[in-house]
Amino acid sequence: MSEPLLRVSGLTKHFPVRTGFRATGLVRAVDGLDFAVRPAETLGLVGESGCGKSTTGRMLVRLLEPTAGRIEFAGRDITHAGRRELRPLRQDLQIIFQDPYASLNPRHTVGRIVAMPLRVNGIDPPGGVRRRVQELLELVGLNPEHYNRYPHEFSGGQRQRVGIARALALRPKLIVADEPVSALDVSIQAQVVNLLRDLQRDLGLAFVFIAHDLAVVRHFCQRVAVMYLGRIVEIGDRADIYERPRHPYTRALLSAIPDATRLGPGGRIRLTGDVPTPLNPPSGCRFRTRCPKARDICATEEPALVPRDGSGQSVACHFPEPDGAGDFPGHDGAGDFPEPDGRDAAGASGAEVTA
Ligand SMILES: Nc1ncnc2c1ncn2[C@@H]1O[C@H](COP(=O)(O)OP(=O)(O)O)[C@@H](O)[C@H]1O
Ligand code: SF4
Ligand SMILES: [Mg+2]
Repeated sequence: MSEPLLRVSGLTKHFPVRTGFRATGLVRAVDGLDFAVRPAETLGLVGESGCGKSTTGRMLVRLLEPTAGRIEFAGRDITHAGRRELRPLRQDLQIIFQDPYASLNPRHTVGRIVAMPLRVNGIDPPGGVRRRVQELLELVGLNPEHYNRYPHEFSGGQRQRVGIARALALRPKLIVADEPVSALDVSIQAQVVNLLRDLQRDLGLAFVFIAHDLAVVRHFCQRVAVMYLGRIVEIGDRADIYERPRHPYTRALLSAIPDATRLGPGGRIRLTGDVPTPLNPPSGCRFRTRCPKARDICATEEPALVPRDGSGQSVACHFPEPDGAGDFPGHDGAGDFPEPDGRDAAGASGAEVTA
């Protein structure tokens, strides 16, 4: 096994809350994450809105300063790396945002937008910047002749392709994709995910792919980490997460996938109630206020993320599903992201987790 490209330990972000001049509390947005991503590996980071996914992604690419913990990239500690130290790393580490329109400057041509990382980093590729940009546009399935057009002249899916071309300009090793298809029509989501997957394969890119449900990352990610209120509650290989989920919250997220029809003995788990506020997370297990299996100990002792023997699967629960119990057969979706007639790719439309 190769050394991790990215290694995160104890990663934490607390936002102070102020009323007037007084600090009155802390939003525990991300609270002690541990995970690693190997070169060319795809990790899905999944959980409901507000669980700390974007905060995590922004810390990984150093757009946000961590409160505590450590981020290592290619063996180097970049946790508090400044601008100058980051310059060589900026090339290797890129981010794609959820809203392709907000992240593209409407007054710049697409050619200029995609060329920006090259110019900022003083890179003059063989054949020139224009040629390189046109190659990139072609790589993401856009017409290289559209170099001089503006973002508003493109559709949402095409704009996200522009964002992807920009992220690829410096030939990165790892891309953090923060809900890259959540703002797109369901019919377009599959096309963009398939493009990302092809690029990942062809270019050997590593990905941290952020999504709010398990349907979207299912055909893309080799490993999946499930987050709840700033913590990872379960992490494992795709087959383990989709076929042998051991945490009640993972099971609940799987239950929310529209075509999760053949649920095993544990059955479908419907969540009730809202996610508690990260200003004041529940004591013990943070999931206990919504967990159908909660008992007394869950309120007093926080469960550690414990590895299951002989696999890369870890679960943070006092009463995890036993091995092999409650299989979700048919959920290990290797292969293509299904083309849309909607249901399967319906991450955005069908998978609310509230009952
Ligand atoms: N700059 C900020 N100041 C205060 N709270 C924040 C800030 N950014 C995010 N949060 C809070 O941190 C939590 C996690 O947010 P976020 O990482 O955006 O979640 P997700 O991407 O999973 O939806 C939320 O409760 C959010 O309101
Ligand atoms: S530790 Fe308790 S409350 Fe938390 S997920 Fe497990 S059973 Fe549910
Ligand atoms: Mg987010």
